[in-house]
Amino acid sequence: MKPLKIAVAGLGTVGAGLVKLLSDNAGIIAARAGRPIVVTAISARDRNRDRGIVIGADVAWYDDAAQMAAKADADVIVEVIGGSEGIARQVVETAIARGLHVVTANKALLAHHGVALAQAAEAKGVALGFEAAVAGGIPIIKALKEGLAGNSLSRVTGILNGTCNYILTTMRETGRDFADVLAEAQALGYAEADPSFDIDGVDAAHKLSILTSLAFATPVDFASMYVEGIRHVSAVDIDFADKLGYRIKLLGIAQATDHGIEQRVHPCMVPVTTPIATVDGVFNAVVAEGDFVGRSIYEGRGAGAGPTASAVAADIIDIARGNRSPVFGVPVGALAAKGIAAMERRQGAYYMRLMVLDRPGVLADVAQALRAEGVSVEQMIQPGRAPGETVPMVMTLHDTVEADMNRAVARIAALDAVVEPPRLIRIEHM
Ligand SMILES: NC(=O)c1ccc[n+]([C@@H]2O[C@H](COP(=O)([O-])OP(=O)(O)OC[C@H]3O[C@@H](n4cnc5c(N)ncnc54)[C@H](OP(=O)(O)O)[C@@H]3O)[C@@H](O)[C@H]2O)c1
Repeated sequence: MKPLKIAVAGLGTVGAGLVKLLSDNAGIIAARAGRPIVVTAISARDRNRDRGIVIGADVAWYDDAAQMAAKADADVIVEVIGGSEGIARQVVETAIARGLHVVTANKALLAHHGVALAQAAEAKGVALGFEAAVAGGIPIIKALKEGLAGNSLSRVTGILNGTCNYILTTMRETGRDFADVLAEAQALGYAEADPSFDIDGVDAAHKLSILTSLAFATPVDFASMYVEGIRHVSAVDIDFADKLGYRIKLLGIAQATDHGIEQRVHPCMVPVTTPIATVDGVFNAVVAEGDFVGRSIYEGRGAGAGPTASAVAADIIDIARGNRSPVFGVPVGALAAKGIAAMERRQGAYYMRLMVLDRPGVLADVAQALRAEGVSVEQMIQPGRAPGETVPMVMTLHDTVEADMNRAVARIAALDAVVEPPRLIRIEHM
């Protein structure tokens, strides 16, 4: 059989990992793919950098990745440079226009240009694989596109960012505050020097926008996503969550409701008894719920050279085998917008922490504000007494519509005895 020829754009964590995987496992991959898979061309910025991999003398080097996409002797271009614009986009567009298959790990590119790229790939009859773009080593794209294809899906939920999960896990285990743990994560290489994409929820939102499209056959719609990161999660709230039987996780949630599709990324409290609550450290997890399959759960490493290269390799092997499926699970023409549900319509339980002056009548005032908006209390914790001083008052609230909850919070924030803006964390029962 003719080998499948691969050109790799980007030789960083993922690109170098892929070259190593394709070399170490060449035999078993050739057997599974039905033909050898060979790297014929590579591109990165610095030709002299030691990348800890062996690059054969017959592999063509390109300083310019776009040139490689346009000229290399290849069947597949692997784009593992990153970024939603610039060179990465150019590489992918050039390769597709040339009629080459593309495999990418680039969630930002897909979140912003997924539909247009899928359309171009479809028109050219080439594959656009992106298993590596969501949850690293978890084969969730294949699960949604193939394994669960017979189901009508109602909800997909995931821990989609390993950096955030590592920070939240470490905060809980050590009792330390966010800034301190973030600094340590940066020193250990678990968080970027500029961590905002991760900790502000943008990276998870990129991934969720892709999962939403696959789950509900809608066009990728990153722009209408509700996104809230973990900067404001405090050690105090993590401690109260523990006392109340919850863990705090940054979740991406896509779900079908009567008001349209909800797409949201924000910190959540999940009951400690649910499987996702104990997915800790850099691990990712995805829970998919379908009408016939019920709930299925996937867990694994969300990033790193090995898991990400493993996902890229799976897409390459599919191409070698001639396996094709529509880029987002249905032909682009069949992707149909189903309307986005406004965040104010979210219905669910809430955790609320107030910092209040410990004086008579405060609880009655808070209760009155909640009652006025039809919000009812499930549990309450008011630790200790310190007359005249500031104390936390913590409560969980029964299922409420977010708009009502927001109005109640505004009333509470306006009370004299409430000395800090109330902290609200949504509770997700799953
Ligand atoms: N790292 C992960 O665990 C992970 C997981 C899932 C998805 N991803 C995605 O995979 C992609 C790559 O991530 P990464 O972590 O491997 O990034 P990285 O380590 O920063 O590597 C990026 C590579 O791109 C090369 N590059 C940058 N600009 C270039 C240009 N103009 N022309 C040619 N090459 C260029 C760099 O070259 P030099 O080495 O010469 O500087 C480097 O080799 C991103 O889309 C990322 O979101 C990463």
